[in-house]
Amino acid sequence: MSVSIKSGREIELMREAGRILAKVHEELGKMLKPGISTLDIDRTGERMIRSYGCIPSFKNYNGYPASICVSVNDEVVHGIPNKHRILQEGDIVSLDAGVIYNGYHSDAARTYAIGKVGPEVQQLIQVTRECFYEGIKHARAGNHLNDISLAIQTYAEHFGYGVVRDLVGHGVGKALHEDPEVPNFSQKRKGIRLRPGMTLAIEPMINMGRADVVWLDDNWTVVTDDGSLSAHYENTILITDGEPEILSLL
Ligand code: MF3
Ligand code: CO
Repeated sequence: MSVSIKSGREIELMREAGRILAKVHEELGKMLKPGISTLDIDRTGERMIRSYGCIPSFKNYNGYPASICVSVNDEVVHGIPNKHRILQEGDIVSLDAGVIYNGYHSDAARTYAIGKVGPEVQQLIQVTRECFYEGIKHARAGNHLNDISLAIQTYAEHFGYGVVRDLVGHGVGKALHEDPEVPNFSQKRKGIRLRPGMTLAIEPMINMGRADVVWLDDNWTVVTDDGSLSAHYENTILITDGEPEILSLL
């Protein structure tokens, strides 16, 4: 395994990629309302990404057919946009997007409620975002990768949630997926030592019920095995010699 250390120039490009991706998410978040289709989100997202001079990194990645992964309710990740899938009041929707700017990737995901949802659903969304922040507290040079993983798992399980095991975060940079893997659950080993210039996609995927997931027949959409709701929150971050920097936030 080799974990790349980004140069100053590479970090600048990843900052710009992240800034653009944050804007894309902000705009997509604003368009969400009952009655729009998941394909509407993808179309708008792809157009916006290209308008910023970026390439949507998911499009055709291992054959994935869209630019934005749109995952509704019990769909965990990698939902395929579809014009017949119409958002309804009370749904939750996870949007995952990636951009390439001058050869450098940024990757980020957000989960939103459509209209009013119950307090237990709001809590799932909020805790999933907080899981990211619990993890990043440990994203400091000299710490080990497993410090991040353990913090995310501990926080999520405190609420009785299931931490998805079958998908993980990852290094990100010249490629969408680089070493190392960044699990949201503790490993037996402490993992690599974090160093300044490492860029990671930290992405807790948290189920209201059990952790188990299954793949649908489309070979992409991942759903919870027990049908419970699932939320996803992801940012691209930079390890520095001080506070970590979140690149995909404005
Ligand atoms: N954020 C996801 C990931 O890190 C997005 C990949 S979806 C794919 O793996 F379509 F590009 F595969
Ligand atoms: Co990712």
